[in-house]
Amino acid sequence: MTKVIAPNWWRDPRCHFGKLTKDSPLLTQRQDLQPTIEFIVTELALPAGARILDLCCGPGRYCIELAHRGFAVVGIDLNERYVALASQVAEQDGVRAQFLAGDMREIPFVDHFDAVINVGTSFGFFADQADDQRAIHAVARALKPGGTFLLEMANRDYYLKNFQRKDWRTLKDSSVITVRREFDYTRSRMNVTFERFGKGQVKEQWAHSWRAYTLAEIVAVLERSGLVLSRVFGNWQRAEYSVDSSRMVVISKKRAAVSA
Ligand SMILES: C[S@@+](CC[C@H](N)C(=O)[O-])C[C@H]1O[C@@H](n2cnc3c(N)ncnc32)[C@H](O)[C@@H]1O
Repeated sequence: MTKVIAPNWWRDPRCHFGKLTKDSPLLTQRQDLQPTIEFIVTELALPAGARILDLCCGPGRYCIELAHRGFAVVGIDLNERYVALASQVAEQDGVRAQFLAGDMREIPFVDHFDAVINVGTSFGFFADQADDQRAIHAVARALKPGGTFLLEMANRDYYLKNFQRKDWRTLKDSSVITVRREFDYTRSRMNVTFERFGKGQVKEQWAHSWRAYTLAEIVAVLERSGLVLSRVFGNWQRAEYSVDSSRMVVISKKRAAVSA
């Protein structure tokens, strides 16, 4: 791999997340979201008006759909552009949701939420694994005792079994994006570089890197912050989790307060 990936690549506004909204509607896509929203409401057994935090909410598509269902939603994302876009869409839709620009390691709430969600592989970016743990610690702190955390991310076992070193896709303007992946076994990181070609020339390059977790590793991270596994699925359609599930949907609970 020729390009060195900056440890804080996720802070760079030119990083992959920004590209997603510019080049494809992936992060703003809402029409296919209803079954996923239904899953969240049912599996988390959310009571009417429950307080929900969407951590790393992007442009707020999950928040807005949950707000439409009457939940009290807060979305947090590092990217100020996404937060502004999310507030704008909520206003257009006539729903109330609060959006805050901030880092997932510093959630400014304590014992507040009935549920926290972190979806669409929005975890594992930090260079130091201790920062991943800090983020989960902040989640546990923000939850009410007995509150639920839903984490939906890529399954390391699947990615290694089905490793695709190269990939490409064509955009609407007929430019082509090539994707090259390398797996760093010493750090369990997927390092990915992207190149956009137009008229045979490289127009843009960018990269990202994320720590790939096995289910057992993620359960250990959750437990260290006092979150106890309650259920796991292989996708939003409730497939059984296995090495053949590309995703893992991990539901855990903060221990209820013990009365003296
Ligand atoms: C793959 S996107 C998913 C967005 C959203 N969950 C969705 O599925 O539509 C990951 C998001 O994480 C955000 N992010 C990355 N690092 C972050 C951090 N340290 N704190 C808060 N948000 C962060 C990015 O800005 C981006 O919006």
